[in-house]
Amino acid sequence: MCGIVGYLGKKQASQVLLHGLERLEYRGYDSSGVAVVDEAGDIQVRKKEGRVAALRQEIQENPAQGQIGISHTRWATHGEPSDTNAHPHLDRSGKLALVHNGVIENYLQLRDRLAQDGHEFRSETDTEVLAHLIGTFYDGSDEADGQLRLVGAVREALAQVVGTYGIGVIHEDIPDFMVGARLGSPLVVGVGKTEKFLASDVGAIVSHTQEAIYLSDREIVLLKPDEISIETLEGDLADYEVSTVDFTPEQAEKGNFPHYMLKEIHEQPVSIENAFRGRLADSQASAVLGGLNLTPRELRDVDRIVLCGCGTALHAAMVGEYMIESLARIPVEVEVASEFRYRNPPLDKNTVVFVISQSGETIDTLAALREGQRKGHRVLGLVNSVGSTIARESDGGSYLHSGPEIGVAATKSFTSQVTVLALLALLLGRMRHLSVDYGQKMLAEIRELPKKVEQIINQSEAIRRIAVKYNEAPAMLFLGRQFNYATALEGALKMKEISYIFASGHASAELKHGVIALVSEEVPSVFIMPKDSVYEKNVSTLEEVKARKGPTIAITTEGNSELERIADEVIYIPECHETLNPILSVVPLQLLSYHFAVERGCDVDKPRNLAKSVTVE
Ligand code: G6P
Repeated sequence: MCGIVGYLGKKQASQVLLHGLERLEYRGYDSSGVAVVDEAGDIQVRKKEGRVAALRQEIQENPAQGQIGISHTRWATHGEPSDTNAHPHLDRSGKLALVHNGVIENYLQLRDRLAQDGHEFRSETDTEVLAHLIGTFYDGSDEADGQLRLVGAVREALAQVVGTYGIGVIHEDIPDFMVGARLGSPLVVGVGKTEKFLASDVGAIVSHTQEAIYLSDREIVLLKPDEISIETLEGDLADYEVSTVDFTPEQAEKGNFPHYMLKEIHEQPVSIENAFRGRLADSQASAVLGGLNLTPRELRDVDRIVLCGCGTALHAAMVGEYMIESLARIPVEVEVASEFRYRNPPLDKNTVVFVISQSGETIDTLAALREGQRKGHRVLGLVNSVGSTIARESDGGSYLHSGPEIGVAATKSFTSQVTVLALLALLLGRMRHLSVDYGQKMLAEIRELPKKVEQIINQSEAIRRIAVKYNEAPAMLFLGRQFNYATALEGALKMKEISYIFASGHASAELKHGVIALVSEEVPSVFIMPKDSVYEKNVSTLEEVKARKGPTIAITTEGNSELERIADEVIYIPECHETLNPILSVVPLQLLSYHFAVERGCDVDKPRNLAKSVTVE
């Protein structure tokens, strides 16, 4: 939530910053702003409510020239979206500028104290308080040691802060210097020869450099165009490693697609293959997940698994629960990460906790990881974003290798998460009672997934026609059972978040326990009902909806034409192993929500009020 970009070098900072902010808009898009130190040595601030495009326009009309600057795209926490509340914020002198991602929890106390000393605040934000606070510790009387004094001021101010932050700070008296610091909000340094970058995510800087340093919590970075130094908050020098970014700038672009979401739906045949590539062990009829860092003996001893995540990752965890319990017979619990972190559930010594996250930065999932580790458990991560905080702090795990996911609505990360969970279920199952024959069958089925997903994507136009027909619906229901219960939840989530149609997902048989009251001629029900062990049960539920004049859209297995006589619309997916079905059945749901959103004129990639990476509680 909120994106930061900083630049020092020889280029026009505002252009580099605008380009970076456009790449970070998925983190928030309520307002944006830049602060640049101009040629005369003065700080120039430009801020605008709304999308980065509005800021670009503002800068075109009212340029801010300079070679060092910080910038921000905001997801509002304290104070409504407005020009005034937009970052950067200045200190009392107007010479120090700050951008911030996170929440200063004790900002009211700090604000009252500063106000008593005569500080006047222009905005309602917690961030402006931090800018003023740093300013009070910066003693500008002696120009010689400006850099040291600015770092010292940042350090002293942060020592008084309760909360989370990723910050970038510049001061007009020290025009070739920038300070960054993080606690709980991600920050990465981009390394060029004679230029440096600071950003919330490598996506903002990858078109300039592939070399990155991921900061850890409680680190402060001191940046000059040709120099980097990293210290701890306490002032000790910290070691750092320069990593190479694992994707190209082109992968982070939309290409010929009108939206990132559609591009990412289309990438799934490749991203699913990337999730299982090199992990299928034919000779053992099993899977290999080397990154788990568990010996065969330790894997054998696992007697309980907890899967944690938020949003779409939580739905993937729910599919994982059914998969692992069915294939490996190990009890699994799915925990909403935000609940797990405060709930204090009993965990015994053979319990392994997995945290699942596309971004690797979701604050509640990160807190769940830390809570599990604090209790002495091994916590493993299933993460997409290489170098993210969860990836670095977990005790092992597996990367999804989906490539950058930029559309706010998660798509390819879900299918990759479920694919990796299927590999985990197979691995654990083969160490217990699954036969060689069963293992081989699973491997063959997994290999077939990309081709089958491709076939579903090819039906996009037919799915669009369904969206055109029902796009005025005031609400929708999504129903599925067993492996597709979680798919129903995911289908409803997709529909709500990008088309703003109220949608709810349910285990099909729960329909009669209240939900059926919502069925009417205007409310379509989407049934995920492949020809599996619960197909007949789903048919009965569909009939109950039909008897009450509810329009029905069925997703079923190819060849099952009987449904055309009962359901109003039928979408076919190829046959596959029941366990893996959600990887296929979710794809038409993604396309359905996409086309609904486009038909309704919604901003598919940047739905209102949302952000992709939720780094505040
Ligand atoms: C946000 C996003 C969702 C995502 C969830 C968890 O709500 O909008 O698409 O599923 O966060 O994100 P993570 O990065 O942890 O998978």
